[in-house]
Amino acid sequence: MISRIKGTEDTIEESWLWEWIEERFKGVATNFGFTQIRTPTFEATELFDRGVGNETDIVQKEMYTFEDKGGRSITLRPEGTAPVMRAFIEHNLSSKGLPQKLFYYGPMFRYEKPQSGRLREFHQFGAELIGSALPIADVFVISMAIEMLNSVGLTNFKLKINSTGDENCRPEYVKALKDYYRDLLPKLCDDCKVRYERNVLRLLDCKKDAEYAKDAPKITDYLCNDCKTHFDTLKRYLDELDIEYEVDPSIVRGLDYYTRTVFEFKYPALGAQDAIGGGGRYDRLIEELGGSKTPSVGFAFGIERIILALKMENKIPESKGIDIYVIAVDDAQRMESLKIAKALSKFFRVDVDIMGRNLKGQFSQASKENARFVIVIGEEEIKEGLYTVKNMKSGEQKRVRFSDIIEMVKA
Ligand code: HAM
Repeated sequence: MISRIKGTEDTIEESWLWEWIEERFKGVATNFGFTQIRTPTFEATELFDRGVGNETDIVQKEMYTFEDKGGRSITLRPEGTAPVMRAFIEHNLSSKGLPQKLFYYGPMFRYEKPQSGRLREFHQFGAELIGSALPIADVFVISMAIEMLNSVGLTNFKLKINSTGDENCRPEYVKALKDYYRDLLPKLCDDCKVRYERNVLRLLDCKKDAEYAKDAPKITDYLCNDCKTHFDTLKRYLDELDIEYEVDPSIVRGLDYYTRTVFEFKYPALGAQDAIGGGGRYDRLIEELGGSKTPSVGFAFGIERIILALKMENKIPESKGIDIYVIAVDDAQRMESLKIAKALSKFFRVDVDIMGRNLKGQFSQASKENARFVIVIGEEEIKEGLYTVKNMKSGEQKRVRFSDIIEMVKA
C-alpha cells in the first residue's frame, strides 16, 4: 500500500467544513474590499531567500527546494506574502492605484517536525493591504481578521501585539539583546545558540528558553520616536474600537520582513502550536524584492489550527445533508426517478438510487445521506402526475404535483 507523505493530510468527511470556512472568510474579506489573488504553489527559491530572509528557520531548515529539469532552483511556497509581493511588482499593480487589497487561500509547505497542528503541507487564508504606512491600516487588517474569526464562531482567542521597530532603532535593540544573552549562551538550547548569531530576536519566542526571555531587554524600550508614535497610535485605535489585546514583547515572528507592528492570534487551549494566525507590517519587503518603496501590512490564518480550535469550542456546524432523495418503488420507475432527480438538481442537492436497491434499502440510504425530503415514484404516481413527498424530520407526507415540489422543499 502506498501511504500519504508524513505531515500531509487527506480531507474526506470534513471537506464541507473547509468549504464553509473558506466561504465565510472570503465573504468577510470581500466585504472589506479585498479581491482574490492566486499565485503559483512554487516559485524561484531566491524569492524566499530574499523575501522571508536567508537567516530564518523557514529558509535555513524548512523549505522544500529542488532543482527542476531545466536546472532552476525551485521552492514550494512556505508562505504567501513574498509570492503576492512578487506578483504585485511583476504586474505593476501599483499603477492601478493604492491601496491594493488582496486575499489568498491555499496550501503552503514547510519541512517541520509534524505534530498536532503542525504539518508539512498546511493551508493559509491570508490578506495583504498594500500601500499604506499608517497605523489605521494595521487596525483595518486586525479588525478584519477578528471579523473572520467571529464569522466562524470562534471566541476564545487572544490578540497579542508588539512592535519590532525599524532599521533606525532595531540595530541598537539587537545589540542590547546580544549583550544580555552573551553570558547565558552555554545554557541555551542548540537552536538558540545558532539563532544568537543569525537572528537574536528569535531567542525571545523559543519555548525551551522562555525563562531567560522574561528578563531580556524589551524592544518597546528601544523604539525610535516614529516607531513609538506608530505603536502608541495603533494601541489607541484598538482601544477606540474596543478590541482586546495584550502587548507581548516575545512576539517577534519567524520571518525577517517585518517592520514595526507584529501580531498573533493565540488560541491557548491548542497547547504548543497555539498560533492560529499571525501577521504584521512589512514596509521594506517590496523594495527588497525590486519594487519601489510600498509600506504594507497583512496576516494569514492557518486553517488546520482554526479547525482544531473550532472543535475545541464545539463550534463545528452540523454537516448539511442533501435536500431530496428520489426513490423508485421498483425497477420500472428507475428512469422516471432519474429524470425527476435531474430536473430537481437545478434547484436542490439531490440524489437517486443507482445501486439497484429495493424500497427499504433506498429509504435507509436517504437517511444515511441526511436527506430532508424523500420523493417516492411508483406506477400510480407516474399515471396521476402526483408524487408522494415525505418530510424526513417530521414524518409528514403529502401528494403533490411536480411543480409544487420546488415550493414545498424551498419553504
Ligand atoms: P506565519 O506565522 O508563519 O506567517 O503563518 C501564519 C499561520 O499559518 C500561523 O499562525 C499558523 O496558524 C499557520 N502555520 C504556520 N506553519 C504551520 C504548519 N507547519 N502547520 C500548520 N499551520 C501552520 C506567515 O506565513 C506570514 N506570511 C503571514 C503574513 C501575511 N504576514 C504578513 N502578511
